Amino acid sequence: MNELELLKMELDGILDASNDNIVVTDGEGRVLRVSSNCTSIYGKEQDDLVGKTIFHLEKEHIFYPSVTAFVLKEKKEVQVMQRTPTGKVIMATGIPVFDWKRDIVRVISFSHDLTEIQQLKEDYEQLRTKMVKYESEIEELREKESKPDQVVIKSKAMMEIRELLNRVAKSDATVVLLGESGVGKNVFARSLHDGSDRHKAEFIEVNCGAIPETLFESELFGYEPGSFTGASKNGKAGMIELAHQGTLFLDEIAELPLAIQVKLLKVLQDRKVTRIGGSKSKNVDFRLIVATNQDLEEMVNQGKFRKDLFYRLNVIPITIPPLRDRKDDIYHLAQNYLSIFNKKYNMKKFFHSSTIDAFQQYEWPGNVRELENLVERLVLTSDTNVIYPSSLPFVKEMETFEQYREEWPLETFEQRGLTLQEALEEVEKSWLRRAYRQYKTTYEMADYLGLSQPTVVRRLKKYNINSK
Ligand SMILES: Nc1ncnc2c1ncn2[C@@H]1O[C@H](COP(=O)(O)OP(=O)(O)OP(=O)(O)O)[C@@H](O)[C@H]1O
Ligand SMILES: [Mg+2]
Repeated sequence: MNELELLKMELDGILDASNDNIVVTDGEGRVLRVSSNCTSIYGKEQDDLVGKTIFHLEKEHIFYPSVTAFVLKEKKEVQVMQRTPTGKVIMATGIPVFDWKRDIVRVISFSHDLTEIQQLKEDYEQLRTKMVKYESEIEELREKESKPDQVVIKSKAMMEIRELLNRVAKSDATVVLLGESGVGKNVFARSLHDGSDRHKAEFIEVNCGAIPETLFESELFGYEPGSFTGASKNGKAGMIELAHQGTLFLDEIAELPLAIQVKLLKVLQDRKVTRIGGSKSKNVDFRLIVATNQDLEEMVNQGKFRKDLFYRLNVIPITIPPLRDRKDDIYHLAQNYLSIFNKKYNMKKFFHSSTIDAFQQYEWPGNVRELENLVERLVLTSDTNVIYPSSLPFVKEMETFEQYREEWPLETFEQRGLTLQEALEEVEKSWLRRAYRQYKTTYEMADYLGLSQPTVVRRLKKYNINSK
């Protein structure tokens, strides 16, 4: 074998050893050699390419755009991106080889397949877009969750409870929330979770009064596939499992069937849960909060609630007082709900001061829930912007009923011998007084009264209103 043949073999070896596709042309752009992987990159056999000029191949969109054509024109190294007939994206680098006269005698080009990288880049971009979208969705959900309607706490009794709740929030001790219906047990269970180190994990709420007895076990403990007829074929995690690392809130705990009470006690002792039909137990780490409006101790005496479970639960009992025992909250709760429902229904209703008085005297058997519902109904149904005590469903039964007769019936003006103008002024004055009491700035007052701000200023002066 002569030297030349050896050299040719060496060159072919180099060409085929490379992952890149290598094309060698002469100074006119005629293809002299091409490495064998041209079939997969360009979709052409070596024989289809060798002997043709790159100008011809460029026209056929095989080398498109042709890097060699650029090199011949610019007489220097050039890089271009190509999309080949087989759909690949490649980076082609062309390098000129000069003779001693600085004429180009050869052009060597390497084509590096970028398809995979391009694909990865596209996938990455798509993922990134999705991530950004999910992130903002999660953020939105979090905001919604962490901003329940404002919790109003103004009375001394409730401030003390809030302090106690803040103190125990960080611990894992079981909290029993007691109190009449509608006092805010759910609200405070949620805020205990939000104030704890577990706030990032789930808050699982189970209303024991709402689950049919037959479903209790599977809801709470979960089940393995095929453990009973009608069970999902994949099995299901129970609420206890779902609360792992978070908080389990068992609302209306007094409704827990006795058979389930035994099982719950066992979970609390072992901190392990076994699904129905399962053999393996799983460790669970959750903080327990329970609530009830029943007298649990009395239920224990009557044998309706297990004593051992009661003692296990009764670590930190917190009784939320009924609304009638914390009258300082009433005004603020009423105003809070007034502004919520005014906003919701786009209204500008407000309470007559006698309405607030009546609120203070009422017993509120349904507590905060009753107040909330009543305010919503009043905002929707009162036909004037002022909500008079006469609209209150309970006012007629109150001893002080006479006191709550509407303040501006026509007769009273007539009896006092007022002219229409005087009566109007009196009404206007008292309306302004109310605005002055309720709002801090004349702009807010103007907005509320439906007057311009300068008019409000003028009238306040006219009626000499400058103190609350
Ligand atoms: N301090 C408060 N500030 C604002 N809203 C409150 C407050 N307390 C309770 N509420 C509202 O009153 C309503 C009743 O509260 P919640 O459902 O927590 O009562 P509950 O004690 O769990 O009643 P039940 O025993 O009937 O389940 C809810 O709409 C809640 O948002
Ligand atoms: Mg509740």
